[in-house]
Amino acid sequence: MNSLISIADLQLKDINKIFTLAGQMKRNPSKFHNALHRKKFALIFEKPSTRTWVSFDVGIHELGGGAIYLGPDDIKMGVREEVRDIARVLNRYMAGVILRTFSHQTITEFQKYFTKPVINGLSDYEHPCQALADYLTIREKFPKKKKPVFSFIGDGNNVLASLLLLTAKLGGVIRYATPKTMTPDKQVIAQARKIAVKTGAIIEGYSDPKKAVKNADVIYTDVWVSMGEEKIRKQKMKAFKGMQVNQKLISMASKSVIVMHCLPAHRGEEITDDVMEGKHSVVFDQAENRLHIQKAVLLYLCKK
Ligand code: CP
Ligand code: NVA
Repeated sequence: MNSLISIADLQLKDINKIFTLAGQMKRNPSKFHNALHRKKFALIFEKPSTRTWVSFDVGIHELGGGAIYLGPDDIKMGVREEVRDIARVLNRYMAGVILRTFSHQTITEFQKYFTKPVINGLSDYEHPCQALADYLTIREKFPKKKKPVFSFIGDGNNVLASLLLLTAKLGGVIRYATPKTMTPDKQVIAQARKIAVKTGAIIEGYSDPKKAVKNADVIYTDVWVSMGEEKIRKQKMKAFKGMQVNQKLISMASKSVIVMHCLPAHRGEEITDDVMEGKHSVVFDQAENRLHIQKAVLLYLCKK
């Protein structure tokens, strides 16, 4: 494994090493300031980004490397030029690539023609860096809890897919509630359940958020209208009725529950303003951890 395209690419020993490295980097960043000396990385983004772009760019610089951002209008991957041609050209210049794409297949196609690390910075299918940062945060918030009850309320797409796979790998407990028409991809559920048989993870799916948050240590949500879905906004808003993370819902969870959101948040839709700003919210610690975990991922993959 020299790439991170899906959480399924990682073995438990890789995950634990990445968490340990991220902790070391967070505590002592200066120790790693030359770890990727002069290595250059391309950030190819077909969609907007705040956290993924900035945290990768800053992280690469903190490790002594350099980053080049290529946005939707710069290289027009798949339009101006085929993915496989861009991959082979960049293979001659770059030490690694971070890709944010509409289609997951674009990333897997790119990887076929690129011999160095390829990192998924979000596709329609998964968001592995997000899930790793999220579990780093959960470990920090609940250092003594072996299996915090993780409850996800929202859409069954990319973010939940990575969280499901990671919870399964870690042998944790995840209860998710999604509208019936927006359950996670069947293949992701099957993959997560297969891993859970070995690790003892517990995976439960609901359509009623109240059932999913019972005794939860973590309540997590994501936007109802993902990037690229603006055209079907009306239909999605209708489907998510009753799924908002608000004070009433969090009062049904454990007293010490933490509230997480990958961000960007649409306050008043999937989460209320008072919950975002309230005492249970850890969303900015979570966002900070994107930086630490991605530095660890970069170094781990580049040293392989
Ligand atoms: N959570 C996340 O990936 O944020 P951005 O879309 O801003 O990168
Ligand atoms: N599900 C969201 C996640 C954003 C980080 C999207 O795909 O837009």
